[in-house]
Amino acid sequence: MAWSIDATDVTGTAMIRLAAIGDLHIRASVSDSLWSDLGSLGGRVDALVVAGDITDGGRLTEAEQAAELFRAVAVPVVAVLGNHDLRCLRRATFRRVLERSGVVLLDGDRFVLTTSTGAKIGFAGVGGAGGGFWPVEGPDALHSRAMKALAVRAKREAARLDAALGGLDADLRIAVTHFAPTCSTLGREPIGKYWMLGNSELGRIIDRHRVDLVFHGHAHLGNPTGSTRGGTPVLNVASTVSGGLLIHDLEPPVHGGDGRPRPDHAPVAVCLA
Ligand SMILES: [Fe+2]
Ligand SMILES: [Fe+2]
Repeated sequence: MAWSIDATDVTGTAMIRLAAIGDLHIRASVSDSLWSDLGSLGGRVDALVVAGDITDGGRLTEAEQAAELFRAVAVPVVAVLGNHDLRCLRRATFRRVLERSGVVLLDGDRFVLTTSTGAKIGFAGVGGAGGGFWPVEGPDALHSRAMKALAVRAKREAARLDAALGGLDADLRIAVTHFAPTCSTLGREPIGKYWMLGNSELGRIIDRHRVDLVFHGHAHLGNPTGSTRGGTPVLNVASTVSGGLLIHDLEPPVHGGDGRPRPDHAPVAVCLA
């Protein structure tokens, strides 16, 4: 697919431009504003990132609505599924409906996109899980059976993200999750709900790899920007937080000798719309 973008910063460096949104919660129909926002991305951005909860009830009819919408997006669409999507009892069919529309679904996978300027954008994604934000010991310090099961799921999802990031070779490396990898983007969410909103194991994995930027959703009452404990920039792109689709200009970072982005060249996300 070919598209052209005139996106350079003041120094003439080619910028990478990404649109991002999470928590569409599509039901019986797609709103006019969503049709218009996503339908007009052709030639304006390199890709669209969708951070899960594409549908509200995980129904196949909702997935079909979403697929029709994504088919109208004239740039690559990279997405993860959210907990609402996973309500579907026919998950393989649900995935197939979305993938047939051209969406790249990341579920412990990676995907490298080469832009028209030759830059390689690498995406690694996983839905993630709750579990809570623990400094060291991990969520399995909790004792109830339900929380232990959640801890197992959290660690499994983190391990899948670890594997996906492991082989990701690109100029700009982006992690996409539905659940939050940090509590710094949880904003007005009540602390008592943190265990449902994400976990720090995701953040630890992200910090262990050379990740330049993270997109997540799920925290509807959160705030738009934060960072992991290791300083990786994190954007909460839930539509309730952003008010809709946002477009970010990202300068490919300059990496230091340790392979991590140099702090003075970390990608800065600029909201354009
Ligand atoms: Fe949501
Ligand atoms: Fe969610």
